[in-house]
Amino acid sequence: MELPRFRARLLRWFSRAKRPMPWRQTRDPYAIWVSETMLQQTTVATVIPFYDRFLRRFPTVEALAASEEDAVLGLWSGLGYYSRARHLRLAARDIVENHEGRFPRGVETAMTLRGVGSYTASAVTSIAYGVRAAVLDGNVRRVLSRVHAKRGLTERESQTLASELLSPRSPGAWNEAMMELGATVCTPRAPKCDRCPVASDCLGRDRAEHWSEGKPRRASVKTNVAMALVERAGRILLTRNASGELMGGLYELPHSGLPQRSGSSSSLQDRYPGVLAVKSEVLATFRHAVTHHRIEATIHRATLTRNRLGPGLSFHTIDEALGLPLGGLTRKALRATGLIVGSNKGAP
Ligand code: ADE
Repeated sequence: MELPRFRARLLRWFSRAKRPMPWRQTRDPYAIWVSETMLQQTTVATVIPFYDRFLRRFPTVEALAASEEDAVLGLWSGLGYYSRARHLRLAARDIVENHEGRFPRGVETAMTLRGVGSYTASAVTSIAYGVRAAVLDGNVRRVLSRVHAKRGLTERESQTLASELLSPRSPGAWNEAMMELGATVCTPRAPKCDRCPVASDCLGRDRAEHWSEGKPRRASVKTNVAMALVERAGRILLTRNASGELMGGLYELPHSGLPQRSGSSSSLQDRYPGVLAVKSEVLATFRHAVTHHRIEATIHRATLTRNRLGPGLSFHTIDEALGLPLGGLTRKALRATGLIVGSNKGAP
């Protein structure tokens, strides 16, 4: 491979072909850090409205550091993987208290922050500060494997190849270009070698599917979840998941167990003995995906069988509920029953 040619072609292609994204219009390390955190496990199209709203509410690291956890979780509601939001807030406090309010310039120092691993540290420091740190994500790994026609590269081998390729003059643009190439041209299936700016320096060219690797996706699991709608004097009953659970800390309609267990209306009833009377009446059904769970949700009308609410249960008006960190499943349920209106995107 001709390294200077490879770099020049990829960078030229990127400056021409890059997709517009809000975080590509800033050099603010904080904004870039928020975007790179949201982009983990989540697509660009999904992230954009969440990113815009998050930065409007928390425009600076100081604003995020001074936030309540619930406010941050609320803005994350619908994005999934909520530990990212919790860690982001804790890391913001660390930055304000111990790093003079600036995202660290050094990769090693950045990696001491909660939730910041080598990917995030390299992405943010290279893009915001021009640090020569090569990122390695699924897209970059696949591009490297094809360019070198090497299967089964270890993490360390991939990191070495990524570092060798990195443009020393434009490390941030380089990292974004590698990710962009993997996302739009050097795709897992049916890569577009005929449109690839570096095809002439690629050993895997036109055999690209042969080098297609990557971790196998976790198989998705179908689950039924029964949910209870209890209404009293214009308020609805919500429960708060314990913070260790999947989707911990979020408010949900009472449910049969999320989403590890398969649940029917009777398991919903069993979960709230002496508290709820679950009717067989079905108010709505809908589907929802959380991580690898494909949920079929059924909402049942239910009433309270006693006045004292158990731990974690509370009544809220719809307006109040919309200001709480509501789980994505419950947000959808409220829409399915017509209690809130609006599109699924860009909630709240
Ligand atoms: N995926 C994650 N971060 C990215 C970025 N900055 N550019 C393109 N794809 C990405």
